Amino acid sequence: MWAKTIQWLGNKARLIDQRKLPKEEVYVDITTPEEMYDAIKSMLIRGAPAIGVAAGYGIALAALNNCNKSYIKEKIELMESARPTAYNLFYVTNRMKKLLDYEDINASMFISEAVLIHKEDKELTEKLGEYGASLIPDQAQCMTICNAGALATGGIGTALAVFYKAKEKGKKISVFVPETRPFLQGARLTAWELKKNGIESILIADSAISHILKTEKVDSIFIGADRIARNGDTANKIGTYGLSLAAKEHQIPFFVVAPSTTFDLSIKNGKEIPIEERGAEELIEFGGIHTAPENIKVRNPAFDVTPNYLIKGIITEKGIIYPPFEQGIKNALH
Ligand code: MRU
Repeated sequence: MWAKTIQWLGNKARLIDQRKLPKEEVYVDITTPEEMYDAIKSMLIRGAPAIGVAAGYGIALAALNNCNKSYIKEKIELMESARPTAYNLFYVTNRMKKLLDYEDINASMFISEAVLIHKEDKELTEKLGEYGASLIPDQAQCMTICNAGALATGGIGTALAVFYKAKEKGKKISVFVPETRPFLQGARLTAWELKKNGIESILIADSAISHILKTEKVDSIFIGADRIARNGDTANKIGTYGLSLAAKEHQIPFFVVAPSTTFDLSIKNGKEIPIEERGAEELIEFGGIHTAPENIKVRNPAFDVTPNYLIKGIITEKGIIYPPFEQGIKNALH
């Protein structure tokens, strides 16, 4: 029962509106690059690989409208400005920029490239799931954070693909799902998606993470990633760093699950990863009701960086990379 996260319908993209889940399953048709930019920025669609796939279609829509090189370049830059942290967005825009090097360009080149990126992303998630599932015992209790599932990719997910493939192999698993404030990707999206696909999930408050790791048997933790540096430092949803620290304290293996399209090999370590800061409204309101004084000063970083020494392994489509990560990443991905 996979969510139809992104569909390409020949001359438009159809996206499930993730802001409305789990209450309503609403699909929105996107017909212009500006609409796609708004969809990414407002988190109608989110999750690093899904943002990349969506941006590819946004650029295809630009080319359908006008195949002038400077116009397409402008729309590629528009996509790049939607959100700063997820590297998959820049992986896709870099691929699209290469098409501008051809002397003669046409819309079908951009559409084919976007469709190919989507197809490749789907295939990558299958491989991630297979490698990850090999780490799961026949009966296991796991934890994740945010939503790194079908809703966050063009396929079956990154971290959640591991659970889906484990289930396919007959393993019995249940997953602790932190709610992931302030946008509630855990409560609204992961809990919804796992339930739809028959995997037992147990919702917990973010503030319950350390307590659960201390008092329950959690076999391993699988998380997605928004950008991974050359040394394995990993940016993911805010709260992931805290989760990795608690995992270390309780000796619980902490795995990152990400395709090669999430690795930014141009940066040495996590200090160079741009961290998105989102609006105050996500923190001062809850369900439209003010829960903090209106003019309070707010910091709302949307991501944090887990240092490589807190990571047990990085599951990629090329296999599982173990420390030392710098060398492992070089061998696997160069
Ligand atoms: O702000 P979001 O919802 O786009 O953040 C998403 C995450 O942090 C995911 O864990 C990450 O993109 C991996 S998704 C396969």
